Amino acid sequence: MASTTPAEWCQAFCVVSSVILFSMQVLPENARKALFAYGARRPAHTQHGPNSQAPGHKAEAKADSLLVLTSYAQVPHSWFVHFYIVSVSWSIFWGWQYISKGSIMRAMAEIQHRSAVEDQSPEVALSATLVTWLLMSSQGARRLFECLFVAKPGSSPMSAFHWALAVVYYTVVGISVWIRGSGAILKSWESPQPIEFTPQIIIGAAIFGFAGAQQNNCHRYLAGLKKYTLPSEGWFQYLVCPHYTFECLVYVGLAIAAAPPGAFFNRSVLYVLLFVVTNLSLTAHGTKKWYAEKFGADKLVGKWAIIPFVF
Ligand SMILES: NC(=O)c1ccc[n+]([C@@H]2O[C@H](COP(=O)([O-])OP(=O)(O)OC[C@H]3O[C@@H](n4cnc5c(N)ncnc54)[C@H](OP(=O)(O)O)[C@@H]3O)[C@@H](O)[C@H]2O)c1
Repeated sequence: MASTTPAEWCQAFCVVSSVILFSMQVLPENARKALFAYGARRPAHTQHGPNSQAPGHKAEAKADSLLVLTSYAQVPHSWFVHFYIVSVSWSIFWGWQYISKGSIMRAMAEIQHRSAVEDQSPEVALSATLVTWLLMSSQGARRLFECLFVAKPGSSPMSAFHWALAVVYYTVVGISVWIRGSGAILKSWESPQPIEFTPQIIIGAAIFGFAGAQQNNCHRYLAGLKKYTLPSEGWFQYLVCPHYTFECLVYVGLAIAAAPPGAFFNRSVLYVLLFVVTNLSLTAHGTKKWYAEKFGADKLVGKWAIIPFVF
């Protein structure tokens, strides 16, 4: 445990969380919904407020005791805004640590760099590390803006477990985007390092920018819907949850931009991507099922849940 590097801790979080989320699929459907379903996908009788008083919901609620139990540990879906406050706060914190040669970043970077030297594993250059940190800051800021000014205020819930997991996740992401550039960070504190924009950084940033812009379009479209309907315009013609697809692509862009010399991807960001794909694929699967129940399975024929030609 003592020799575990910060990057390995972050990777362990992503792997363990992905395995937990995935293995929860063996639970009965109601238990899964109780723990993970959020937004309109969460069964109405577990929601407090007007929906919970609808006829028939009391009887259903008795039958689904886990759903009812977890209904007391739920927070509003609009609390997603907290994730991006956390994300932006960590970006500011690590930026401030870098500029001020802070002791927390130094301690973590020294452990990480020592291990990289021992293992002879390549480290990320300074330019790639700073660009990735900037890109992640912009992702957090854009999502915060969307939560505050684009999304329509809703009253649907999510479980407190989901909320807590996501707060830790954004803490882990804040570290993952720079930790493999530890050697370059320490070096740049001793003497100025060259800043060069390699093709890899440019390609990664271009994918990130494209994915971010498309995700923003999806969020604007969802926010413009008058009521819960089957989204069917733009990317929603082909995918049930294109905003999730573009979230995954955002992290593909980051993993490419932050790759060390001689590699295609940054390993730490790839682990983050693993968690994002697992988490959002399961949610997209739930969304597709929910839409099929509500609007009819025929309306979903030919639509991928999240990953075109795969899932
Ligand atoms: N990095 C990660 O691990 C991670 C995890 C989760 C989410 N995210 C990202 O965060 C963003 C939001 O995710 P989310 O899971 O909250 O998305 P979501 O459940 O699709 O909800 C997004 C917004 O659209 C509304 N909405 C959804 N479906 C609708 C429909 N059929 N009709 C009308 N309005 C609808 C929701 O309203 P209500 O509030 O009323 O439900 C909410 O305001 C996504 O782009 C996703 O990629 C990232």
